[in-house]
Amino acid sequence: MTPERAWWKEAIVYQIYPQSFNDTDGDGVGDIEGIIEQLDYLDALDIDVVWLNPVYESPHHDDGYDVSDYRAIREEYGTMEQWEELLDGLHDRDIRLIMDLVVNHTSDEHEWFVAAREQDPEFEDYYVWKDGHAAEDATDSPGPADRTPPNNWESAFGGSAWQWDDEVGQYYLHLFDEHQPDLDWENTDVRDDVYEMMNWWLDKGIDGFRLDVINLISKPQEYPDGSPHTDWVGIEHFSRGPRLVEFLDEMNDETFAGRDTMTVGEMAALQLADAGDYVGADGPLDMVFHFDHVTLDYDDEDGWWTVVDWDLTDLKQVVTNWQTGLDDGWNAVYLGNHDQPRIVSRFGDDGAYREESAKLLATYLLTLRGTPFLFQGDEIGMTNYPWETLAEQEDAQTVGRVKAAIEAGDIEGFDEVKELVRYRSRDNSRTPMQWDASEHAGFTTGDPWLPVNPNHESVNVAAERDREDGILAYYRELIDLRHETDALVYGEYELLLPEDEQVFAYTRTLDDDEFLVALNFSDAAATVDLPLDDARLVVGNYDDEPTGEPTTLRPYEARVYRR
Ligand code: NOJ
Repeated sequence: MTPERAWWKEAIVYQIYPQSFNDTDGDGVGDIEGIIEQLDYLDALDIDVVWLNPVYESPHHDDGYDVSDYRAIREEYGTMEQWEELLDGLHDRDIRLIMDLVVNHTSDEHEWFVAAREQDPEFEDYYVWKDGHAAEDATDSPGPADRTPPNNWESAFGGSAWQWDDEVGQYYLHLFDEHQPDLDWENTDVRDDVYEMMNWWLDKGIDGFRLDVINLISKPQEYPDGSPHTDWVGIEHFSRGPRLVEFLDEMNDETFAGRDTMTVGEMAALQLADAGDYVGADGPLDMVFHFDHVTLDYDDEDGWWTVVDWDLTDLKQVVTNWQTGLDDGWNAVYLGNHDQPRIVSRFGDDGAYREESAKLLATYLLTLRGTPFLFQGDEIGMTNYPWETLAEQEDAQTVGRVKAAIEAGDIEGFDEVKELVRYRSRDNSRTPMQWDASEHAGFTTGDPWLPVNPNHESVNVAAERDREDGILAYYRELIDLRHETDALVYGEYELLLPEDEQVFAYTRTLDDDEFLVALNFSDAAATVDLPLDDARLVVGNYDDEPTGEPTTLRPYEARVYRR
C-alpha cells in the first residue's frame, strides 16, 4: 500500500548547528547572519527543510539545550529581526524551517526556575523537588550531608540526576546537566505555558519542530530506583513514563492540530513496538528519531564507555525492522547529528576510503524509506577530530562523564580514555564547518570556539565546489534523483542478502518502478549475487562501471540500479 502523500515525507532535511556553521562578526561563534550568508549554498544543495539547533537565549552549559528565554535569540547569534530575515530568506527559496523545542528541562537561569528557587507560590511546582532520604541520625533540619538523593537515577552527563539546593532545602531533578532542571509536566500550568510558547513560534511562521528528548517528559510519580546495569540508570522508568502518550496527544491538540507542520521527536531508548503510539495516522507526531542503530557500538554492560565492533548484519536487522515495522508511521532516516560522531568516521572509513565511504553513506541516507536528515559538513565528508586533551572540548556529555569518572576514582585521567573520547565525543561533529582552506577554514576571522579540523586544508566546500565527481556533487545528484522519484520516497523496502557481512542491499519498489541499492560497507572487494537482469546503473560512487557476473563491489562501492 502506498502511504498517503505529505510534503514532509518528500522533503530532505539539512541540520544546521548554528554555533559552528558560519561566523560573520569574528567572535569565533557562528551566527544567524552567517546562515543568511549561506542561503544560496543551501539552495544549491536543493534541500527542503532546515532544522536549526537551539538559538534561544541560554547560558550554554549544554550548547543551547539549556534555554533561559524561549522567546529571545541568544545575543551571540544575533537578533530576532535577523532570525525573521532568515525565515523569510529560507521561505523565498522554498526551504522550510523547523526549530528545536527543548521542553523536558529549562536552564536554571530561566525565570521560572529563578522564581521556583525563591519559592514563589506560582512557580514552586514548575520543577521536580524532593526531600531525599534522611540518614537515621539526621538532625531536625537536615542538610545535604545527612541525606541521600530520592533515587538512583543518573544524569546523562555523569553522576546523580539529583542536585541539592540550599535555598529550597530540597533536591531537584536534572536528567542532564545540573544547570538543566527538569520541568514537572504533571503541573498543568507548565504544560499550558509550553503550548503557549510553541504557538507563539508557530504563529511566527515556522514549519514545525524537532522535539528534544520528548519521551522523557512524563515521570512515574513513585520515582522508583532504576536497574544499575544500564548506560543511563533510570531510563526504563523515564523513557516512557505513564502519561507520555497523553501529554503528546494534548500537545498535538493544543498546537499542531490544524496546522501544516512537520514534527520529529527525539526518543532515546524507544522500542519499535511502542513507536505506533507516537507516529502513524493518528499519532501525535509525524516522525521519531530512534537510537537503535547509533547504539550498536555501545557495550551491553558498559554502554558508552566501551566501543563495540558492530556487525553489518546487525545494522541491517535494525534498519529492516524500522523500515518494515512502522505500519502507517513514517521513518526519520539519519546516521549523524550534533550528538553523534562524524558518520564517515563511524560507519565508513575516514582514511583511505573517506571519499568513497562518504558517498556510500549519502546513498544510504537518500535511498531508504523515510525522511532523510543530513547533518552539516557530511556533504563534504567531514571527519572526527584528533582530540589530545579534555580541555579542548566543550561537550557537556564527554567532559561531564570523564570528570565524574575521575572524581569517582573509576579512571585515573583523560589519557586512559583518549581513544574512546576520540571516537565518541559529540564535539567531533561540532567542530566548525569547513568552507575553505584558509586559516580557520573560512568559518571565522577570530578564534573559533572549538578547534577547526586540520584536514580542512583539503576537506572543504571550496574544494568540493570545483569538482564534478566530488562528495558534494554526489549528494546533489542523489538529492535530485530522490526529488524526481516517487519510488525512492514511497516505495516498499525489501532487504536482500540478509546474511552478507559486507554488502547491504535492498530494493525500493513502487508499482513497476524498482530500484536496487547495493552498498559495500567494507574496505575489501565483495562478490555477491544480485538479481540485476534488465537493471541499469543510475548512480554509483566509482567513475567506471564494472562488468561481469556475479557482481563484485569494490571497497565502499555504492551502486543504485533501476529497472
Ligand atoms: C538531546 C540533544 O540533542 C542534546 O544535544 C542535548 O544535550 C540533550 N538532548 C539535552 O537537551
